[in-house]
Order: sequence, then C-alpha cells, then structure tokens
Amino acid sequence: MGTTEFQKPRGFEDHLPEDVPGWNALEDTARDLFTSFGYREIRVPHLEYSDLFSRSIGETTDIVEKEMFTFQKEGDRNLALRPEVTASLCRALLEHHLREREPFQKLFYIGPCFRYEKPQKGRNRQFHQVGVEAIGASDPLLDVELIQLAVRYLENLGVPSFDLSLNSMGCPECRPDYRSLLKEELDQIRDDLCEDCHRRFDRNIFRILDCKNDVCRQITRDIPEITDHLCESCDEHFEEVRSGLSDFGIEYSQSPRLVRGLDYYTKTVFELKDPSLGAQDALGGGGRYDGLLEQIGGKRAGGIGFAMGMERILLSLENQGGIPHRKERDQLDLYMVSINRTCRRELLRIASKLRTKGINVDLNFEDRSLKSQMRVANRSEAPYTAILGPDERDQNEITVKQMDTGEEKRIPVDDLPSFLGKDSN
Ligand code: HAM
Repeated sequence: MGTTEFQKPRGFEDHLPEDVPGWNALEDTARDLFTSFGYREIRVPHLEYSDLFSRSIGETTDIVEKEMFTFQKEGDRNLALRPEVTASLCRALLEHHLREREPFQKLFYIGPCFRYEKPQKGRNRQFHQVGVEAIGASDPLLDVELIQLAVRYLENLGVPSFDLSLNSMGCPECRPDYRSLLKEELDQIRDDLCEDCHRRFDRNIFRILDCKNDVCRQITRDIPEITDHLCESCDEHFEEVRSGLSDFGIEYSQSPRLVRGLDYYTKTVFELKDPSLGAQDALGGGGRYDGLLEQIGGKRAGGIGFAMGMERILLSLENQGGIPHRKERDQLDLYMVSINRTCRRELLRIASKLRTKGINVDLNFEDRSLKSQMRVANRSEAPYTAILGPDERDQNEITVKQMDTGEEKRIPVDDLPSFLGKDSN
C-alpha cells in the first residue's frame, strides 16, 4: 500500500465497496426482523449536549469519564458525539412527546457511535450499532420477547455460535443495600485489587465484579452475588424472565458478575458473546432501564433495549467465512464498450433508456483499446457485455457477448431488454 498524504484517523474505518454488501445485509436483516416484531425505525443526531450522556450513562462510568469525544461549548454547554444511542432516543421520545400519542413505543436504530478507546481488533473509535428500545412497559414477558429478538437477529444472519449471559442488577430498592455489602466485603481486600479497581472502589464499585484482571477475579471469588440480594419484586421479575427464556428453549448462562458499563440499568441485563473473538468478544448487550426517562426529565416508565456492534458481528461471520453475499440488485446486468467516441455517445443514449427499465448497466468512458475495455468488462462481473462499432451503429444493432461462454450475437438494439430477460416493464 502506498503512502498518501492523508490517512484516516486512528480507530476509524473506511467501508470499501466490496465491504458494503455485508453491511447492507446486516441492515436489511435488522429492518426486516425488527419490523416483524413491531419496532419502527427512528433516526436521531450523532451529536448531543454532553450532559445528556453524563446524566443517563453515569458520571463515573468509563464511557463518560474517559471515552467521549467532547467539543467546545455552545453557549455554556458542551457537545459530544454519541457514545451510544439509548440516551439520544429517550431524549427524542420526550422532546417529541411520542408517548402522549402512544404510551408504549417500540423503536429501532442503525448508525455510528463514537468512543475514544484504545483501538484494537473489534474495538474502534467509530463503530456502528443496530439496536432496539421498547419503552412504556415493565412486564418481564417484554424482556423475554426482546432477548428472543436479539438471539434471532444473530441466528438469521448466520452467526454460527454465541453465548447468552443473563443477570439482574436489582433496582433502587435493593441495590443500595447490596452496594453497602459489597463495599464492606471489598474494603477488606482493597489493597490487593488492581489499580483500576482501586479507583472503581469509590467511583463505580460494581465494575470491580467484572474486572478481567486474574488477580482481581481470584480474590473476589467469594464476594456475595447480587441475585442473592434482590428485593421480592426484582427476584420475581428475574424468575419470570428465566422461565420465559426456557419456555422458548433459549439457552443462557446466569452470570452474577455481569454488570455492564452503563449506570442506567435496573433488573434484567444480558450480553451476547462470541468467545472466538478474543478480548473484544461482546457482540451485543442490553437490559432494562426503568429509571432512565425520569433521570432525564420525563415521567417514570419501564423500558428495555439492546444494541449490537456491527463490526463485531462482521468479524464473527468473517471468522467462519460466512459474510453475507452481495444481493442480485447490486450486480450489473450489462457492461458496454465502444470502438470510438461517436459510438460511446450512442451507448450513453442506450444506457439511459435501459436504466429507465430497471436494468443495471454501465459503460466504459476511458480512451482505451477495445481489448483493455473488455478486461474492464470482465472485472465488472456483468454477465453480458455489449460492443458497439460504427457498422452496428448504422444498422441500429449491437453485438452482445455472454461472458461465461464467450458466445457472441448481433441483435437489434431494441431487443436488448428481452435478450437480457428484463423486458417486463
Ligand atoms: P454497550 O454494551 O456499551 O451497550 O454496546 C453495545 C455493543 O456495541 C457492544 O456489545 C459491542 O458489540 C459494540 N461496541 C461497543 N463499543 C465498541 C467499540 N469501541 N468498538 C466496536 N464495537 C463496540 C450500549 O451501547 C447500550 N446502549 C445498549 C442498550 C440499548 N442497552 C439498552 N438499550
């Protein structure tokens, strides 16, 4: 690869034309499936006032503390590129009073998010999420339906294997007591924890539970589990979610150490992982956030959602050689080459007519020999190439070559659509 004067910033990716069909497949599958579960697409800005994120995701989370791209203030408020979409979506829901029209809302989104993390395989500074949020209901059956949707999305894409982990984060009723208990227990071993966990002790104590450091894992082995300290309502909710998943035959492992990196969660949390991805193995995750709307100025309402990382899903499919193929509609039906510029002018007229009939056609604009134009035709992967020379042009005819057999036939230009099997309109 040659060096060019400008390169993309670290942690940002270009999606080249050969990559885009895979991305489209992820998007098309999401749109079809999510719509079939009653979700409607919403699009919200990539930039928000940064206090929306500190208020919702949490002031002391890594995402807000270290990973936000924050910009100079507008008035006296900073702006930030969104590190996730849930908070923006809830802001839009409140701002446009969507729940006044219909109190229960099922919405989905597809788009980029930005986190200033150390780039590595599966971890980018700009990455893309597909996600859903269902807002206005607290029924654990909704949790079951939503987790089923997440699982089905990966299955429909053909992700070969993944693990579902499930936990409950409790609620404002039971979590403070568990937090105090955790503090008491962890205080005794505080000096042996890693540097990060030392900091987490005061700022975000739950994250000590999912620290990846082996020493931390070892010494916190016997720490009481949150699911043994849930209030009655959280306990019942968790039980209903588990039995609902079992009814559908959805396999999961109960993971009392799963706490997730965002503070807005209450009750159900879950994550989907592909262990073959290495360190960045989370394909997606989500959970319930019954206090979030209230936190950002709305009325209290139950809500739950998940988001999947599209880069991670593509990596997972790539590992197993299964990136979805490009769709037929992305392919050219016909490529056209000409002997001289007068003929090219005629080709442009023919192409214009064919395109109005929904035929995908391209022509060569380079001043090159017929032989090298034919090489381009070959690379275009169009099944047919049309060749126009002065003689054909005078007769209002054209020569068409079937690229796989090499067979050539001269036909009237007007017969091209039927020759290509595309004369239905
Ligand atoms: P999250 O777990 O922070 O949750 O992100 C969801 C997914 O986005 C991750 O599982 C991962 O696949 C992908 N992801 C996150 N950071 C990166 C990165 N730096 N590079 C590549 N992929 C990344 C949320 O964002 C919540 N909003 C999910 C949710 C929706 N909870 C309720 N509703």
